[in-house]
Amino acid sequence: QEAEIGLIGLGVMGSNLALNIAENGYRIAVWNRTGSKTQEFAAGAGELADRIVPCDTLEELVASIRRPRPIIIMVQAGAPVDEQIAALRPLLSAADIMIDAGNANFRDTMRRFRELDGSGLTFIGMGVSGGEEGARHGPSIMVGGAQSSWLRVRDVLTAISAKYKDDPCVAWLGPDGAGHFVKTIHNGIEYADMQMIAEIYGILRDGVGLGTTEMARLFETWNEGKLDSYLIEITAKVLAATDPATGKPVVDVILDRAGQKGTGRWSVIEAQMMGVPATAIEAAVAARSLSALKTEREAAEAIYEDRPVRFGKDRARDVVDDLEAALFAGKIAAYAQGFAVMEAASREFAWGLPMATIARIWRAGCIIRSQFLDTIAEAFEDGPVTNLLTAPRFVDLMKEAVPALRRTVARCAEAGIPAPALSSALAYFDTYRQARGTANLVQAQRDFFGAHGFERIDAEGHHHGPWGGD
Ligand code: 6PG
Repeated sequence: QEAEIGLIGLGVMGSNLALNIAENGYRIAVWNRTGSKTQEFAAGAGELADRIVPCDTLEELVASIRRPRPIIIMVQAGAPVDEQIAALRPLLSAADIMIDAGNANFRDTMRRFRELDGSGLTFIGMGVSGGEEGARHGPSIMVGGAQSSWLRVRDVLTAISAKYKDDPCVAWLGPDGAGHFVKTIHNGIEYADMQMIAEIYGILRDGVGLGTTEMARLFETWNEGKLDSYLIEITAKVLAATDPATGKPVVDVILDRAGQKGTGRWSVIEAQMMGVPATAIEAAVAARSLSALKTEREAAEAIYEDRPVRFGKDRARDVVDDLEAALFAGKIAAYAQGFAVMEAASREFAWGLPMATIARIWRAGCIIRSQFLDTIAEAFEDGPVTNLLTAPRFVDLMKEAVPALRRTVARCAEAGIPAPALSSALAYFDTYRQARGTANLVQAQRDFFGAHGFERIDAEGHHHGPWGGD
């Protein structure tokens, strides 16, 4: 019996995806560069083993799959993907589909599409979110490629995807790089969401002086309200966890230096290239980079001894009361930015990205899954959206939540507590809703030193100022 699909790369994500596919009733052929891993995986597959076809060679893998053969490549992003494609190419025939399911840079994906052009082989760039657990029991899947390739894998991917109520969290989003681009922005939003939550934690720890158990309880409460989301849920769990070695809260023994593998940074780079402001995401990426400068920060703290000021008892209650709404307002601004970046990319690359669908397939399975995405989907279904901040559904929510964000950012500034993503979100909101900004002065300066010219509010054309000099 032929396998329905193949998979290369039995790391954490690959093996969990393979088990998910097998569990959904599909035969799957698997191959791993280190052969022993393939056998170990098949041996450990328990009752799913009869749907798993362990292959010792790539030739064997290719020969076991029903044509046209879809093969998921789940290896480290970058050069390993190109190596795998090069190794597979001579073994495949027309209409076979290589599917890169890693966190690829969409520009690499576009290049891979171009390189396969005319070869008869096809490619899918597929964003998969949900970590290990998602891969095993239902991830959110963002597909980019030719529609004919999508049709070949639609049933399998639909079966293995997360479900929001009954809706499968998988969709074909557009040609070539569309899927990987959307996954990148998903991660950019993920960075902003995580950073803003971390800033709230910082306020509670340094400004309010709350213990982790009380913090965990707060996050649990918030998870029942408008912030209801996976990231809030796991934050509550993280804060409640104890380190077995020391008996201390786990968060207290973790070094404050965050890693990053690239997707957040790419979101910001792409946003900048298209001239789309994504300041909350930028702040989140920069915050990770600053976190990496641990020794520099230690030295600087010794120089500027005035550490964050603890709020007084009465003040502390008001501070805490504002945090839920503050985080909500910040979150709306960050998502508005992420979606604006996708809108711009959709135009730039002629992808026709379906915004409501993207919000819908993020409602379950992925790391940023939340109730809130349902409201975003509805906002896009209501009619054309220029920016989520002015979408009717969000206007009232923002009006209600912004004052709390404003007070929170102001208090952080006064107390010396860093809140880069929350304050960027607020600054973005305040700048976006200011009809008469201050760029008139920037224009005057540009004209003064470089004769760049400016537009006038009361006349057409290109003008220069009466600056004098030579
Ligand atoms: C997901 C995650 C996942 C992973 C990324 C982000 O959607 O399941 O985004 O893809 O956690 O690698 O990782 P970094 O924080 O390491 O950049």
